Amino acid sequence: MTSTEQGRRKYDELADRYEEVFPYVADVGKQLVAFAGPPPGSRVLDVGAGRGAVARAALALGCKVTATDASAGMVERLTADFPEISAYQRDAGSLDFPDGSFDLVTAGFVVQVLPDPDVALAEARRVLAPGGMIALSLEKQSVGRLLWLYQLASEFFGVPVPSEDDEQTGALTARKLDVLLADAGFTDLETSPVAMPVPMEDASALWNWLAPRGLGDAVGRLPADRRSAFESRFLAGAERMGAEGGIVLDFRATLHKGLR
Ligand SMILES: C[S@@+](CC[C@H](N)C(=O)[O-])C[C@H]1O[C@@H](n2cnc3c(N)ncnc32)[C@H](O)[C@@H]1O
Repeated sequence: MTSTEQGRRKYDELADRYEEVFPYVADVGKQLVAFAGPPPGSRVLDVGAGRGAVARAALALGCKVTATDASAGMVERLTADFPEISAYQRDAGSLDFPDGSFDLVTAGFVVQVLPDPDVALAEARRVLAPGGMIALSLEKQSVGRLLWLYQLASEFFGVPVPSEDDEQTGALTARKLDVLLADAGFTDLETSPVAMPVPMEDASALWNWLAPRGLGDAVGRLPADRRSAFESRFLAGAERMGAEGGIVLDFRATLHKGLR
């Protein structure tokens, strides 16, 4: 088992609004499938499929798509939205398909949420046919031009400013993922960077993005004087960012592929 009860609950709760909360996954799903380049008719398994960002891109290329996810809520939505996709509730570490069943195994933004990605990679390799391909995307921690906001959050909430150097944070990095892929027996590894800029119209759009992602609750818990101090510093920071080239969230990711 590579999922926890808590992890499954989190994604069950997110299932209905997952792609509104993370609007860039649809685009990265298409990019991942283009990077893998499966011919029409390929047997594709999308692991940790969520709402189908990767699975539906493979479907659009004429592939025969199977999808799995640990969250019952995600599988339910996927089945309702894409009846052409065979979807199952399965853990990434225990896929329960015969050896060699697929030509391509994909997983968009999944390995980073697994406690033991090596188990999932070994299982993906088992269900791949000889010569089959694995294709993964991995989100990269990016502070970028929002450094002022991380510094503000650090001052008010005591959270550390994340390091741009993921190697220092213990996060799964592109380099570590390539090592895991090689250790699992995949060859001909290739990696490609992806930039996902999400422009925000103004300071209130930035606030509306961040508030439901935890900042609203954190600010709401501050005493009144600290809350208004935070709000005016936030507004000033966002307006400065807007004037200095625009308010943009700089999400980054890497695409990885390898052969069985
Ligand atoms: C960040 S979401 C990515 C969803 C989708 N692949 C995409 O690109 O939008 C991670 C997904 O992995 C699923 N997941 C988490 N742990 C899992 C596990 N151990 N086995 C299978 N799926 C898992 C979650 O339920 C969630 O749908």
